[in-house]
Amino acid sequence: MPVRKPESAEVDALRREIDEHNYRYYALAQPVVSDAGYDRLMRRLMEIEDAFPEYRTPDSPTQRVGAAPQAGFEVVIRARPMLSLENAMDEDELRAWCERHVRVVGDAGGRDYVCEPKMDGVAVELVYEHGRLVRGLTRGDGTRGEDITANVRTIRAIPLRLAGDGQPAELSVRGEVFMELADFAELNRRQEAAGERIYINPRNTTAGSLKQLDPGVTARRPLRFYAYGIGNAGDPALSSLSSQWDVLEQLREWRVPVNGLSVRCETMDEVVAYLENIQAQRESLPYEIDGVVVKANEFSVQVEAGERARSPRWAVAWKFPPQEERTRVLGIEVQVGRTGALTPVARLEPVVVGGVTVSNATLHNQDEIDRKDVRVGDYVFVRRAGDVIPEVVAPIKELRKGRPRKFRMPGECPACGTPVVRPEGEVVTRCPNASCDAQVKERIRHFASRNAMDIEGLGDKLVVQLVDAGVIQTPADIFAITLEKLLPLERMAEKSAENLVAAIAKSRDTTAPRFLFALGIRNVGETVAGILAEHYPAAGPGGLFDASEDELAGIHGVGPVIAREIRAWADIPDNRALVDRLLRAGITLPAAPEKKGDQFEGMSFVFTGTLEHMTRGEAQAEVKKRGGKASSSVSKKTTYVVAGEKAGSKLDKATQLGVEVITEDEFIDMIQ
Ligand code: IVH
Repeated sequence: MPVRKPESAEVDALRREIDEHNYRYYALAQPVVSDAGYDRLMRRLMEIEDAFPEYRTPDSPTQRVGAAPQAGFEVVIRARPMLSLENAMDEDELRAWCERHVRVVGDAGGRDYVCEPKMDGVAVELVYEHGRLVRGLTRGDGTRGEDITANVRTIRAIPLRLAGDGQPAELSVRGEVFMELADFAELNRRQEAAGERIYINPRNTTAGSLKQLDPGVTARRPLRFYAYGIGNAGDPALSSLSSQWDVLEQLREWRVPVNGLSVRCETMDEVVAYLENIQAQRESLPYEIDGVVVKANEFSVQVEAGERARSPRWAVAWKFPPQEERTRVLGIEVQVGRTGALTPVARLEPVVVGGVTVSNATLHNQDEIDRKDVRVGDYVFVRRAGDVIPEVVAPIKELRKGRPRKFRMPGECPACGTPVVRPEGEVVTRCPNASCDAQVKERIRHFASRNAMDIEGLGDKLVVQLVDAGVIQTPADIFAITLEKLLPLERMAEKSAENLVAAIAKSRDTTAPRFLFALGIRNVGETVAGILAEHYPAAGPGGLFDASEDELAGIHGVGPVIAREIRAWADIPDNRALVDRLLRAGITLPAAPEKKGDQFEGMSFVFTGTLEHMTRGEAQAEVKKRGGKASSSVSKKTTYVVAGEKAGSKLDKATQLGVEVITEDEFIDMIQ
């Protein structure tokens, strides 16, 4: 169908609409159209421009990709250098900066601050002339940057033209190009699927993406942008802006993305509170930051404070401890976990990462090592984020000397010598010997640990000693430990022995979730243990271990994988014997919640779709309390199918089999 020739104002409105959607998506993370809706608008614009090329403008959103590969980047000298920042490493240094600052600028009011996250990306400058993006430059050495215009044009967060009217003849926007963590992970998944190299971190990848000679490559990288300043703020044309806060607000009005976490603070105490708040959020932010930037807000104050050669006196960066550091792999050892999983662990030259000394880092499994190609002797980046186990990110291959051998997982368990197995399709290599010394120790250690049975004093070293001395072989043996058995042990003082015996006695009084978690069933962590305990309160763990795989899989939060693990675990006679022995050893779990009669005796319920007033798990628990069965699949034997919102195939099946279907409200009526 031929495209009708629109008015030029109509095309312009379409472009502005697309620009606005880009802004909502990239700057606010609040899209108001679906991806399909956005694509429809873009397609319409492309059709118009194809049919009427006179409407095609360089700042049209259709023109982001298309520039031809370049031979190199032209060096551009800028009039106003891009400065860097002085660092403050702790609160004292920050307050010292503030005092110096106050001494310089005096106390005559106007001393507020703007605090912004310090994005861990790559600094760029965007030059707009009369609202049109004409140039994108790297920071370079501050004064001389490289012209990467064709590449920055591909970044959808960067407007090709500013929104609104009355833009200045010249505007230099400064900010940070970065990659979100989820986008980075997705990029690496794509790389891996294509058999391509894996990128080390979002920052380096961003830098590499901006320096591509072919803008088509940059366009395929998920880059974003946040602006944090204007390079020519003193220009007469920008005289309406008198503070950093004005700048951020003006940029937002022009639809240039600005980090929503930026704030204005009146006092240093507010600044410190902001810092702490951002630091606490650091792990959960969708992108990496390496600190917070504190800037004097008023330009008049900034001018008075002045600048050094490379950094302003009116701003300071509070740096967070780095989460990534360089060190060296001294060796790779293999550890055997409580489920028999063999985990290669890198022994590292100790290095402080995120404020903690790291000397070991997990390498996960053989596939991970192959993927990263980590070898003994390599210099590597190690990363530690929050409470997460330190991890080797990647080797620095440029520094590799000679040709160190690739790591191979041993064919036998390093603890017991049993040949290892690696089931088809799994990444984990395992020692199949359940009596393997290492597994035994790990199981007991886990059983006694804080979030499990919480036996104070029964730590790693003592577990090893007790197992080696033949005092204990299984978690159940712990409850047979006596002073007589402990006292002959080396380095065992009478007092510690007494304390341990008392701690063991005390641990008998526990809860069902802790007990289930302590058993160390694969994939049954604390959360799942809690869910299971809720579903099988009456018979304690007995009921759980008699449940069918299907029944377990139907529990919300459990699912087929965990259900299979539980069933497999319970089918091993030694495990059932362990549970029996533990319960006989006097472990008491709180009494089961009262049964609410046998209203549903002989009935079976299937819940499908989303329930509004309760979780599926809660609904199933209600059925069980009344003597009924909750199942996950519909059969002729099903009494009721309770259909919530968006019920799917189970509802169809119920209709097919003639099973009665009721609503959630009807179910609630039944139980009330
Ligand atoms: S202000 C004159 N604000 O940190 C002020 N910089 O060492 C100069 N950065 O390369 C920069 N987030 O790219 C400022 N909110 C922010 C920032 C920020 C990240 C980077 C910037 C520069 C480095 C300064």
